Amino acid sequence: MTSRSEIPTDLFGAIAELKKERNAVILAHYYQDPDIQDVADFLGDSLALSQQAKATDADVILFCGVHFMAETAKILNPDRLVLMPDLEAGCSLADSCPAEEFARWKAAYPGSPAVSYINCSAEVKALSDVICTSSNAVAIVESLPGDRPVLFAPDRHLGRYVANRTGRELVLWPGSCQVHDLFSQKRLIQLKVQYPGALVIAHPECEESVLEQADFIGSTKALLDFTATSAAQTFIVATEAGILHQMAKRSPDKTFLAAPPESGCSCNECPYMRVHTLEKVYLALRDLAPVVEVDPDLARRALVPIDRMLTQGVLSARS
Ligand code: 13P
Ligand code: SF4
Repeated sequence: MTSRSEIPTDLFGAIAELKKERNAVILAHYYQDPDIQDVADFLGDSLALSQQAKATDADVILFCGVHFMAETAKILNPDRLVLMPDLEAGCSLADSCPAEEFARWKAAYPGSPAVSYINCSAEVKALSDVICTSSNAVAIVESLPGDRPVLFAPDRHLGRYVANRTGRELVLWPGSCQVHDLFSQKRLIQLKVQYPGALVIAHPECEESVLEQADFIGSTKALLDFTATSAAQTFIVATEAGILHQMAKRSPDKTFLAAPPESGCSCNECPYMRVHTLEKVYLALRDLAPVVEVDPDLARRALVPIDRMLTQGVLSARS
């Protein structure tokens, strides 16, 4: 069992030392706690993190994100040690799409390509034709032959957004993210009235009623870049609140307001992303555990649609 004794008081320094010793790289999603964002070697959205996982030559990848992200890093790096500070970091959206049900759903639409959002299990990836993230979903769907409907799983809000942007017929899996589902249109409008000069920016995992209020829609990275380049001074941000840390770092003179969820609680923080702590980061590097494992045969099958995404591959017309 992992000993929790002798946790150093200077965790930042201890983590930096262990990183060198282990030749480790820390990859972190923007939804992590600010402290973890600050110790990361690379911070990104889902697409950038998988690109970085593919490019790294570190011996150890410590992935501070949720399980499907670390699993993707392992699939891309079968020979490297991939760690997570806490293996309990799941995802309600990925859980909403069990592989057996997905396989039955797909079989009901023979010949239709299946595009799966990266927020799904390795099993669902292995059954999919191509993976996408919120950064490239529109481009991936546009790259597919236009002669039949496209299956899109598991996020129905992102799927509906992609269908509207591309004009393509999409059959949507009925999943959604428990964090992005909770933003309240009514409370968002109240905030807009309070801050008339503010721009609303939203992640496409939000409900349509929230996206209708948005001046800009994009992945977490696209939202971050938008706040840095826009002339506006105040932004109402409808995505997980962790991104506000980077927005404030990039644009210290601007004001960032977290869009309010329905209940007024802090449920715009993802409970899965936030299970990681700096102490767990330290312990993971010290003990080289917990380890992210993927069955090698499953990994080989799941790699095919991930690689199609990373090379922006176009599926050839299907019979
Ligand atoms: P992106 O990283 O693509 O913006 O997706 C956000 C998200 O919900 C990750 O779980
Ligand atoms: Fe999953 Fe939503 Fe959390 Fe992202 S924010 S990990 S989609 S539950």
